[in-house]
Amino acid sequence: MGICSERGDGDAEGNMKALILSGGRGTRLRPITHSQQKQLIPIANKPVLFYAIEDVIEAGAEEVGIIVGPNKEQVIETVRSKAWGAEVEFIFQGEPKGLAHTILVAEEFLGDDDFIMYLGDNVIKGGILKHSEKFRESGPDSLVLLTEVEDPQRFGVADLDEEGRVRRLVEKPKVPPSNYALVGIYFFRPSIVEACKRIKPSWRNELEITDAIQWLLDSGRRVEASIVDGWWKDTGKAEDILEANRLILDEMRPKNEGVLRSSRIFGRAVVGKGCVIENSEIKGPCILGANCAIRDSYIGPYTSINDGCTIEGTEVEDSVIMEGCTISRAGRIVESLIGKNVVIRENGRRPAGHRFIAGDSSEILL
Ligand code: G1P
Repeated sequence: MGICSERGDGDAEGNMKALILSGGRGTRLRPITHSQQKQLIPIANKPVLFYAIEDVIEAGAEEVGIIVGPNKEQVIETVRSKAWGAEVEFIFQGEPKGLAHTILVAEEFLGDDDFIMYLGDNVIKGGILKHSEKFRESGPDSLVLLTEVEDPQRFGVADLDEEGRVRRLVEKPKVPPSNYALVGIYFFRPSIVEACKRIKPSWRNELEITDAIQWLLDSGRRVEASIVDGWWKDTGKAEDILEANRLILDEMRPKNEGVLRSSRIFGRAVVGKGCVIENSEIKGPCILGANCAIRDSYIGPYTSINDGCTIEGTEVEDSVIMEGCTISRAGRIVESLIGKNVVIRENGRRPAGHRFIAGDSSEILL
């Protein structure tokens, strides 16, 4: 289903496409994902999906196919709100039947071209350009990105030989052959399509991309690995979003486009247009989107506050606050992930006490 397409300049050499996955239900991020697709959750005020799109375009993808699922309209609208330097198409996956299934759904889009597959909720420091160059230069059937983790049982894991070549890949092994987890970023040739057709669903009833790459190995194809040396985050849970937010904010350059009245900024802070900061302290690294009003407050390190928020008489630290929130005399807020248009304020009425109107699966820690 090609819903939209935007032609950009592209890179003239080689035919490289990208398949970015932006479907799935995001159950571990409820209640935020009751109303928002998980790949649209902002990290340093930018949807996590945008980091993936930027990375594949920088790595030379001229056509980007985005797999969409339950909240397809939301994803399409958000992606289309920006001009990209590549053609962007949306491909609908009716039922989430696994990562390898998305390749089958995208078969027509992929055609006979090489492509990058990128899970849209992954973020990686420094992009994927050097891995893309390695793939183009050494010409394997697949290049997988690996990183060392402490809990390999949660991932696809690679067994490497003495020279660092991939011998075997296993999905969520009980006894992992190494600590090298598969990062959700893969480079493929068209041969992967046949592999995805040949494999059977796994114990979780999904067509696993790990099994498809193993099928390539079993058929004598060359699969190489590239080790990720910086950080990598799979933003499947709230703690991961907060951690990715810290990592990205750590690298941001300061910029102040707002108005300060009796206020001070310490460290690296980005303050968007139309912000008015009164009688407050802002301590970076942090980012405030456009048109925020901050009064009698402290905004501490590792905080991202999106457009149109009002914060009054409150301290906020190490948190992600989405658009349009109003927070007033709420004490001190830490390590929080707050959705759009949330109101948190003092209960000025009797009986005194906490009053909640909390959506399904909300978590409130007092
Ligand atoms: C998927 C892959 C797994 C990989 C992981 C990276 O796991 O199946 O091999 O290590 O992404 O995020 P899932 O998120 O589907 O459990």
